[in-house]
Order: sequence, then C-alpha cells, then structure tokens
Amino acid sequence: MKIKVDLSHASKDASYDILIDSNIPIGEFLKPLGIKKRVCIVTCTTVNNLYGSSISNVLKSAGIEPFFIVLPDGESAKSIKYLSYVYDELIKNRFERSDYIIAFGGGVIGDLAGYASASYLRGVNFVQIPTTLLSDVDSSVGGKTGIDHPAGKNLIGAFYQPKIVIIDVDFLNSLDNRELINGFAEVIKYGAVLDEDLFLYLENNLAKIISKDKQSLMHIIERSCLLKADIVNKDEREGGIRSVLNFGHSLGHAIETLYSYKTIKHGEAISIGMVFASKLSKELNLCSLETVNRLETLIKNSGLPTEIPKFSPEEYVNAMKLDKKVEDESIKFVLINNIGNFKFKKLDFTFIRKFLENLI
Ligand code: NAD
Ligand code: GLY
Repeated sequence: MKIKVDLSHASKDASYDILIDSNIPIGEFLKPLGIKKRVCIVTCTTVNNLYGSSISNVLKSAGIEPFFIVLPDGESAKSIKYLSYVYDELIKNRFERSDYIIAFGGGVIGDLAGYASASYLRGVNFVQIPTTLLSDVDSSVGGKTGIDHPAGKNLIGAFYQPKIVIIDVDFLNSLDNRELINGFAEVIKYGAVLDEDLFLYLENNLAKIISKDKQSLMHIIERSCLLKADIVNKDEREGGIRSVLNFGHSLGHAIETLYSYKTIKHGEAISIGMVFASKLSKELNLCSLETVNRLETLIKNSGLPTEIPKFSPEEYVNAMKLDKKVEDESIKFVLINNIGNFKFKKLDFTFIRKFLENLI
C-alpha cells in the first residue's frame, strides 16, 4: 500500500509517500530520490547486527555507498551526547548537503537521526526505514524529530519531514513481544480516540496480532498510517487537531521522565496515561464507565501496564508542567469522548493533582 502525506499546501516539495509492504526492494525506491553519492545509515546495535550487512548490500547493488553510525539500543541514545556524536561522525566523513541520512531503527533512531538531519548543515535530506511496530505506526510518519532532556521528554526538536517512509513488515519478525506490544499501545491510541472500527478490530483480533500474524499486522499498520497521515495533512505543526495524537502522553511523558527514560518504555507509559485520561474523562462526564472498562481491558489483555507508578502527585504535576501543551498553569488535555472520539479540555494542575491523589 502507498499512502501520501500531502503537505503541498505548505511547500511544493514537502509531500512524501509511506510505503507499506513485505519484502520491499528498498534500493528501487531510494534511487528515484536522486541520491547522488552516499547515504549515512543511522541505526542501533541490535538492528545493525540483524540487518546491517543486508541493507548495505541492497544499497551497494543500487549504486549507493552507505556508511554507518551505530548508536546504543534504547531511549538513552535520544540525548545530546549521542546527537553530538552523530554530528562528529558526519563531519569526520565529510557528509555533504546532497547526501542522505537514513534512519534505520525504532522511534529512538528515527527521532534522533531526524533531528540530526534537520540541523546538520541547516538541513539535509532524510529517509525513514522503521523497524519496530511503534515506529511503523507512529514515529516514522509526520516529521516530529528530537531528543530528550533530563528534565523532560522530547523538549528539544524540530518538525522536519522525511523524503519517504519505507515500512517493511518483515523487520518485525525479529522484534520481541515486549517491543511488539509497546508499539501496539500507539495503535490502541488511534482506535480509542479516532476510529471505533479499528478499536473493535483490535478487541477481536488481539491474539492474532500478538502472535504476529502478517495480515493483521499489515492491517493495523495501514490503518494507523492512514489516520496519522490524515491528521498531519490537516495540522503538520500541531496548532490544533494533531494534539489528539498525544492521548495518554501528558501523564505518560511524566512517567518516562520520572524514571529517567529507563525501566519503562514509551508505549507502556502512555498505556498508563490513556487509562488515566479515560478516568479523568469519566469524572468530567465525557465518557461512560463502559468506555473506561473497554480501554483498560484491551490494554491489560495485550499485556501492557495500567497502574500508575508510585511517584507522588506533586512529582507528577511538576513533571507535567514541562509538557509542551502547558499554558498559564493549565494543560490542554486530550480526553476520550466514548470510543473513537475525543475532546480537548484545559485542566488546571490543582484539579489534576487532586485526581491523582485518589488514584495513587
Ligand atoms: P526503540 O527505538 O528504542 O526500539 C526498541 C528496541 O527494539 C531497541 O532496543 C532496538 O534495538 C530494538 N529493535 C529495533 N528494531 C528491531 C527489530 N526489527 N528486531 C529486533 N529488535 C529491534 O523504541 P521504539 O519503541 O521504536 O520508539 C520509542 C521512541 O519513539 C520514544 O523515544 C518515543 O518518544 C518516540 N516516538 C516518537 C514519535 C514521533 O512522532 N516522532 C511518536 C511516538 C513515539
Ligand atoms: N506521536 C504524536 C505525533 O506525531 O503528533
């Protein structure tokens, strides 16, 4: 399947395709981009060990010379230290404006390599080749790039779109179960606030998805990318509706920050955040108890966590105050308005702290 992210209203060459398939001849799709000389592949240790030599051969046989920058696995690579290392390597290899960066890995690699692409030489072309479910369904699409700061998640970054996103589901064969369901959390997010049919599909096909049935994975990736592309086409820079994609993220990002980006994974943290947001929504009479229960059940049944970790309400509120959606001591919260629908509401931190006190 080919999905277009249509940003022609913003700039004439900003639009790009998302390709979703298995066994994609990657070289064939890179060549027409006009890559003249080299590409720099930014990846992580595990992906390099699994697929480094095969992607290198594929590129070489398409006449493209790759060099690799390999970063450690996990969220700790999304830091100023490793961003600086990427700049050093690009300079050392005399990387030029006409060369391309390929982000080859999960969301950590995509976000970091995307931001390096946005900032090195004031912007070089880049391509997303995601290898985790999370990066297939969410982070590779839409141009949010950046790194974490010890005080807050994704605090430094830029909107910078790739030239193409190539999603080959075969990379998921080597993904372990924890990483698979970590990405599944973002699919639940789309269903919960944007698409009731998708949510129903997830409820009815959970076992097939978790066991990596290819057709089911392809279906949820395609549906997620269609939903995300539609939102990004309408609101690339998150001036309005794109914030819906942050459902579960206000508390989720606070949890990740409080754990110093260790122990808990992004999808796990936002799962807890989605359940919290649904309980808030019920409190504000926006959804029924049945909605809260359906969401919590799907999250639990997929093996994701729902319990809020035992930090104090004060610590949560302080971490949330650095959220990008904060304005005048209140936060624009994404709430669920029964399955498949959402509502934005400004909530003040006194109310959020009180509500947290009852749940922790
Ligand atoms: P990740 O990039 O750390 O990858 C998870 C783990 O899977 C790593 O250890 C990696 O080595 C391993 N891995 C990757 N591909 C593999 C494969 N094919 N087989 C086996 N192992 C493989 O984590 P992630 O969950 O992909 O991404 C999380 C990040 O994405 C977070 O930093 C989050 O903030 C970000 N994110 C960004 C956006 C956005 O719009 N830019 C959206 C959602 C999430
Ligand atoms: N993952 C949230 C967004 O891309 O807007």
